[in-house]
Amino acid sequence: MNTMTICKDIEALGKETAKQFARLAEQYVTQKGRFTVALSGGSTPQVLYKYLSLPPIRSEIPWGGIHIFWGDERMVPPDHPDSNFRMANEILLKKVPIPDENIFAMPMKETDPDRAAEMYEAAIHDCFDPDEDEIPVFDLILLGIGEDGHTASLFPQTAALNEEDAWVAKNYVPKLDKTRLTLTFPLINQAKNIFFLASGEKKAPVIQGLLSSTQPAMHYPAAKVKPVSGKLSYFIDEAAASGLPKP
Ligand code: 6PG
Repeated sequence: MNTMTICKDIEALGKETAKQFARLAEQYVTQKGRFTVALSGGSTPQVLYKYLSLPPIRSEIPWGGIHIFWGDERMVPPDHPDSNFRMANEILLKKVPIPDENIFAMPMKETDPDRAAEMYEAAIHDCFDPDEDEIPVFDLILLGIGEDGHTASLFPQTAALNEEDAWVAKNYVPKLDKTRLTLTFPLINQAKNIFFLASGEKKAPVIQGLLSSTQPAMHYPAAKVKPVSGKLSYFIDEAAASGLPKP
């Protein structure tokens, strides 16, 4: 089941997604003792991370039960300006009482991307302890959407789009001339909840393409995010929604 929430602007989007994050965190920690979430990189989620770090929402979250992973990472050290870990740590993680052992950064000190992917997959396996052939189920995966329809580091015409078995893959992105690490669709689509966050006029065409009921733009990698049994929620601001039919 998909839902869409249109917020006035990026600040309203940050507040709303933070409220929904807190609601899910409270629900899962109460029901099963922990909440497993994969964070997104990029600029849009930074406003979400900001509101999670501030009252009143900060105090509504049972930080001791939160387990943090990342949906993708650039192959840079954890203190590099491009690091998704660094971004989330600066804005949120170092400001809240989450135990260090609950923060699972992608292994950026490992320079071999295949080895790094294996290491991260092993970290996920250790945390979720799935049965044989079972795919781990994240409680929440946060995703942004690029203007080209990429999500996480799953870019158009890249190899990782076709990964059907691994949960974590390296992915060379020709347009960036960079190799990244990314969760794959088999893992992403198992999640109980997926939040797509998009803000700004430049995302209007891709949002229109993804949500079109007549001609959905299936060429966008983000179109392959289809939860097997979970809930997909779009959180977009009015600028990003400007291409959608008026209600
Ligand atoms: C990353 C993200 C990437 C991002 C999109 C949208 O590591 O950059 O995982 O998929 O979500 O590029 O980025 P913005 O939110 O900055 O538009």
